[in-house]
Amino acid sequence: MAPQAPLAAADWLRLSCVLTLFLLFNTAASKSIVKALPGYSGDLPFKLETGYVSVGERDDVQLFYYFIESESNPVKDPLVLWITGGPGCSAFSGLVYEIGPLIYDVPAFNGSLPTFLLNSYAWTKIANIIFLDTPVGTDFSYATTPEGYYSSDIETAKETYSFLRKWLLDHPKFSTNNLYIAGDSYSGILVPMIVSEISNGNEDGHMSRMSLEGYLLGNPATYIHNDQNSKITYTHRMGLISDEYYERAKSSCQDEYVDPDPNNAQCIYYLRLIKECTGKLNEAHILEPKCGSTAPKPDQLKLGLRFFEDISMDILFLPSQQEEMWCRKYNYVLSYVWANDPAVQQALQIRQGTKTEWKRCNKTLSFEEDVENVVECHQFLSTKGYRALIYSVAMLRFLQQRKDTLAFNECVFGHIPTKNSVLD
Ligand SMILES: *[C@@H]1O[C@H](CO)[C@@H](O)[C@H](O)[C@H]1NC(C)=O
Ligand SMILES: *[C@@H]1O[C@H](CO)[C@@H](O)[C@H](O)[C@H]1NC(C)=O
Repeated sequence: MAPQAPLAAADWLRLSCVLTLFLLFNTAASKSIVKALPGYSGDLPFKLETGYVSVGERDDVQLFYYFIESESNPVKDPLVLWITGGPGCSAFSGLVYEIGPLIYDVPAFNGSLPTFLLNSYAWTKIANIIFLDTPVGTDFSYATTPEGYYSSDIETAKETYSFLRKWLLDHPKFSTNNLYIAGDSYSGILVPMIVSEISNGNEDGHMSRMSLEGYLLGNPATYIHNDQNSKITYTHRMGLISDEYYERAKSSCQDEYVDPDPNNAQCIYYLRLIKECTGKLNEAHILEPKCGSTAPKPDQLKLGLRFFEDISMDILFLPSQQEEMWCRKYNYVLSYVWANDPAVQQALQIRQGTKTEWKRCNKTLSFEEDVENVVECHQFLSTKGYRALIYSVAMLRFLQQRKDTLAFNECVFGHIPTKNSVLD
């Protein structure tokens, strides 16, 4: 019997090594190279990788990403982490409707699987881009426990930093590329917080240093109350309301339009007049039509029409829509059809059973907006010398107002005081 003992021990050792390796791979990261996608004939002319990285205190959050290598010089070109807004809007939306290499061939869409064209203006022509589905619950990201689904701005910033650390460990060849964090809309809150996390981590010295260069933001949320308030000034400057309405609203409301005193009859009166002038405009782009919602007609397409909540299928298929009825958001229909196709999810290596349906924006996230104001965060980052490209009128206006108070030595988030805030 004695000679067998060492063998058994060796076997046990081997088994436990295999188990440890299995657990490591299982919990840290999993990635796949995607060579072809349904809707694009032939191999993709760029390198696409998809995968999951687990984060969170209990390691119960699985963040899904699409990674596209630069088509120029992946070794030298910057590495960009892109987060779409919402919170809860899919990174794929940024990929296919904003800056990625593929765009849908909208005119060719007839209700079957949408097809792709190449986007000649893709940022991936000059940058390596990770499109990350964050916060948890967005697109294909999920949690393995019910508690894991709970998230907030502060939690998301930490989890995103943790994601990047693990992703770079797993992709060491990108660890020296200049790193930028980017996003738009609601990401205006998250991006500066993530950049601050990285900056603090770099200074801490315990973490491996990231080659952080700066950040990019489009129409970002910055100080949510003031962003909203400045819309009145904007409509006046764009000539959408008269000087008279503007001046009267301004003096009677004393520059508070978001949360006016309900007993201030004059202010309420002028705000109503202004709303009558601007209510039919598309807020995101005043020169594009504001698109209404009409109930979809399920017989028009043999698809799961419950996906299309806010989109008018009627108008999409009306022959008369071509010119005058054109509406940007109807194009979103194609992403619902595409991303919910089982063959597509298989090609993207989505883990089976983790998501019942794909939505472009998850409007039922368990998310607490616990930061309302990141102005000081921007100021902190600019004193640190990071580069920033920010395109938004409201943002510039607000920073100008505050330029006399530029002595910041930390990133102080403007917390929204709420009863159940995890921070209080
Ligand atoms: C839709 O177009 C595809 C080709 O893009 C074609 O194969 C399919 O038969 C068309 N379906 C209908 C219902 O016209
Ligand atoms: C939206 O998020 C919630 C909570 O984070 C999650 O339970 C749900 O599955 C998500 N829905 C979709 C369509 O992804």
